[in-house]
Amino acid sequence: MPDFRAAARRTSVVMSLVLAVLTAGGVLAWSASLRVDYTWHLPAGIPAPNVPHDNPMSEAKVELGRRLFYDRRLSVNGTLSCGDCHNQALAFTDGKARAVGATGDVHPRSSMTLANVAYLSRLGWANPLLDKLETQVPIPMFGEEPVEMGLAGRQDEVLSLIATDPVYRPAFREAFNGAFPYALENVVKAIAAFERTLISLDSPYDRYLRGDQAALSPAAKRGMALFYSERLECFHCHGGLDFSDATAHRGQSVAPGKFHNTGLYNVDGEGGYPRPNTGAADVTRDTADMGRFRVPTLRNIAVTAPYMHDGSVATLEDVIDHYAAGAGPPWARPVPTRSRAPSFPDSSSKKLRGAIS
Ligand code: HEC
Ligand code: HEC
Repeated sequence: MPDFRAAARRTSVVMSLVLAVLTAGGVLAWSASLRVDYTWHLPAGIPAPNVPHDNPMSEAKVELGRRLFYDRRLSVNGTLSCGDCHNQALAFTDGKARAVGATGDVHPRSSMTLANVAYLSRLGWANPLLDKLETQVPIPMFGEEPVEMGLAGRQDEVLSLIATDPVYRPAFREAFNGAFPYALENVVKAIAAFERTLISLDSPYDRYLRGDQAALSPAAKRGMALFYSERLECFHCHGGLDFSDATAHRGQSVAPGKFHNTGLYNVDGEGGYPRPNTGAADVTRDTADMGRFRVPTLRNIAVTAPYMHDGSVATLEDVIDHYAAGAGPPWARPVPTRSRAPSFPDSSSKKLRGAIS
């Protein structure tokens, strides 16, 4: 017990150092700090995230979740933790176009930032059914298509690890008061509680909103005006405290947004996306959902390249070019003019070939 407390204190000091990374345009920066007392220390006017009743926050649980998040022993061959695909230095992404699991499986999609996941109404690039962190955690741990951490069929090994490890044994007892706390459900709950503490709300943009005129450069202010203009419309989908219409928080009365097709692909002339990344249609089997993805946050966007669900867009400049070319599904796009890019690339182009790094 004393060992664990000392280790937790040390880590807490490191984790609470606020990291600020200026983005290319100087618009957004990020900070991730460990909230250990569960009074949410949020800037004025920012609502607290939703927390499920059956998994209340506590200092002990978050510390335990942090440890589990970074523990490579929670993978089939001891090589991969959550933190390897969600690296804090890259705003909890991995810098790869598509994520790679412990046994080399290439995930069809790109690793996502975990900054402000506590505020999301839907998790993942395109799964309308996934709405709770506690439901998401088992996917990378036990999923087989693709294999990420590769723990399918190894539940007993995980249970034996947490019940016998000299740090985990007392830590689970402290975090979960039950008679026998060594359950997979509690592994999941602790990791989810830790994820809810990854809050990013102190960028130069946030400081500008709070009244610091000098926080944004003149160029960033011009970019902001365009971002919030009806001409460019970015804010319709990338609005709110997390720059995503899928944001939800405590006391919210407006329903979170739908999934959207930004016209990244058109492989059949009818707006088709290459399999398996057909967007929400992959889950709903409704052709109207073809190519519809959840709006990703734009926080820390300068450090989360490459972009889009399949990592097929290398730079922010290329993202802007994509939107400048019209974006949107073919039926909603403005009539192309000669000055616009001719059409969207198909799946056989370099976009997908270059995707595995
Ligand atoms: C092999 C790399 C990899 C590992 C390991 C991994 N993830 Fe992920 N993570 C991803 C990818 C890829 C996605 C996008 C999945 C999708 O939508 O298909 C993702 C998405 C997520 C999301 C949704 C974020 C959002 O904005 O909607 C959460 C939350 C998450 N991961 C948490 C975790 C946790 C917790 C662990 C450890 C138990 C973990 N991940 C392990 C690659 C990984
Ligand atoms: C109709 C809704 C909508 C509008 C309008 C919109 N976006 Fe997006 N944006 C999305 C969706 C959905 C994605 C993810 C698409 C994908 O992965 O296929 C996305 C992805 C992005 C990404 C990549 C994020 C990442 O993590 O990979 C950036 C950057 C971005 N948009 C910026 C903008 C800008 C700048 C504008 C205005 C010019 C804009 N968006 C307008 C819905 C929208």
